[in-house]
Amino acid sequence: MTPPPRRQPARRRTAVPRRRTVLATVPVAVAALIGATGPAAGSAGAPGAGDPYFPLSGNGGYHVRHYGLTLRYDTASRHLDGKAVLTARATRDLSRFDLDLTGLKVTGVTVDRTPAAFRRDGQELVVTPRHTLRAGRGFHVTVTYHGTPKPVTDPDGSADGWIATDDGAFVANEPQGAMTWFPANAHPRDKSSYDITITVPRGRTAVANGALVGRRTAHGQTAFHWRETQPMAAYLATATVGTFKVEQYTTHDGIHVYNAVDPREAARAAPVLKKLPSVLEWESKLFGPYPFRSAGSIVDHAPGIGYALETQTRPLYDSAPDISTLVHENAHQWFGDSVSLTAWKDIWLNEGFATYAEWLYDEQHGGDSAQDAFDALYARPANDHLWAFPPGDPGSGENIFDTPVYARGAMTLHELRKTVGDRDFFRILRAWAAGHRGGHGTTAQFVRLAERTSGERLDGLFHTWLYTKGKPDRA
Ligand code: TRP
Ligand code: ZN
Repeated sequence: MTPPPRRQPARRRTAVPRRRTVLATVPVAVAALIGATGPAAGSAGAPGAGDPYFPLSGNGGYHVRHYGLTLRYDTASRHLDGKAVLTARATRDLSRFDLDLTGLKVTGVTVDRTPAAFRRDGQELVVTPRHTLRAGRGFHVTVTYHGTPKPVTDPDGSADGWIATDDGAFVANEPQGAMTWFPANAHPRDKSSYDITITVPRGRTAVANGALVGRRTAHGQTAFHWRETQPMAAYLATATVGTFKVEQYTTHDGIHVYNAVDPREAARAAPVLKKLPSVLEWESKLFGPYPFRSAGSIVDHAPGIGYALETQTRPLYDSAPDISTLVHENAHQWFGDSVSLTAWKDIWLNEGFATYAEWLYDEQHGGDSAQDAFDALYARPANDHLWAFPPGDPGSGENIFDTPVYARGAMTLHELRKTVGDRDFFRILRAWAAGHRGGHGTTAQFVRLAERTSGERLDGLFHTWLYTKGKPDRA
C-alpha cells in the first residue's frame, strides 16, 4: 500500500492552528551611526536571497563559511542566551548587510571585533560595519543576543524553529525557523560548517549536527559541543534539548551513530532505530556512499508538531518513527542535505526523492512494489487533491510540503524509471548524488543529467509530470 501521508499538511493543519505571525518591528533606534565615515563606497546587501516563496530568507552580498554558535538554554524559564560568530566573505563591496533574525534581543554586534551599528527591521538584522567590506574579503561578525525564542508559523500553518517542549526544545528549521534562534544567512543557497555548543541544566541532553567533540559538566550545567564540518544549510541545523537516553556506536562503514531518544518513546522507537545501520547500508548501495561521517536520530516526545525533519546527519522525529519515516529522513541526507536546493520551488528534488526511497524500500523488503504505490495513487480521481498543482511548480511557500510535492514527485521518478529502465535510473540517482555532493542542484540540471545518462529525450515526461496542471494522461 501507499505509505500513509504522514507529512501532509492535512494532518499538520489539524495539529497546528492556522494563524499568521505578526513580526514585531523594533523601532529603528539603535542605528546611531558609529563613527560614520564619508560617502560609503559599496552598497547595501540584499535583504533576501531572491527566492519568491520566502523573499526575506537569506541575504545578498556575502557567504557564510562557518557559524560558531554558543548557546545556553534554561529549560525551566525557556530563556536562551546566544553568541554567534559568523565567518563570512563579501561577494561584493558591502556598506551594510542583513542577517535573518526574529524575536530575541540583540545586545551587540561587532564586525572584525569593531562595534558595528545595527537595527532590527522585521526578520532582518541590518548591520552597518564601520568600514565598507571589499568584495572577496573575509570578515567575522559577532552577535550577542538573548530572549525567549518563539517559533515561526509558516504559510501552511505549521510551526518551525525553536519550539519549547515539556523538557527542553524541539528545534526544526525548515523552511524558515533558523532565524528564531540564531542570526543567519538562512537560505539553502548558502551552506556552511557549524560549531554548536549548547549549555543546559545537568541531566538534560542537547543534540546538534555532526560529531560530539566535547562535553563538560560544571556548576550543575552541561555543555555539549557539536561540530558539523560538511556544508550545511541553516534549515538543517538543530540544537534539540530534552531528557534523552543516548546510544552510540560505529557502523561497519565507519559511520558514527548517535541516537538520542526520549524515554517515553523508547519502547516504540527501539525496533525501528535498530534498523538504522541496515537502512544506511541499503541506501548507500542505491544512492552511493553515505555523504557524511556522522549519523543517528533524535526521537523527541513533542506531541502536536506533526512532522519529522531531515536535520543533517541526525534526523529529528517528534515521536517514535515508523520504518518508512526513518527511510525517508535518511534518504534526505543524500537528497536535500548533501545535494541542496537553490530555490524552494525545486522542493520536489527533496520530497519526491525521499518519498520514492520509501517505495523502493518497501519493494525490496517484501512489501508492495513501487508500481503498486504508483497505481494506488494514479487511481485517484482527477478532482483529488493529489492533482491540485504540479510538483515542479508548487506556486507558493504554502504548498511546498503538500501531497503533490511528495506523492506526484515520487510518481515522476517512477515514470522516469519505467522510461529509462532500472540500470539507467539508478545510475542517474547515483550520478546526481555524486556530482552535486556537498553542493546544490536544480531541476533543470537533473533533467539534463537524466537525458545524458539515458541518451533519451525526456523533456516530454518531465513537462507532463512536473509542470502540467491536472492529472496526467496515462503514458
Ligand atoms: N521535510 C520534512 C520531511 O518531509 C517535513 C517538514 C519539515 C515539514 N518542516 C516542515 C512539513 C514544516 C511541513 C511544515 O521529512
Ligand atoms: Zn521529506
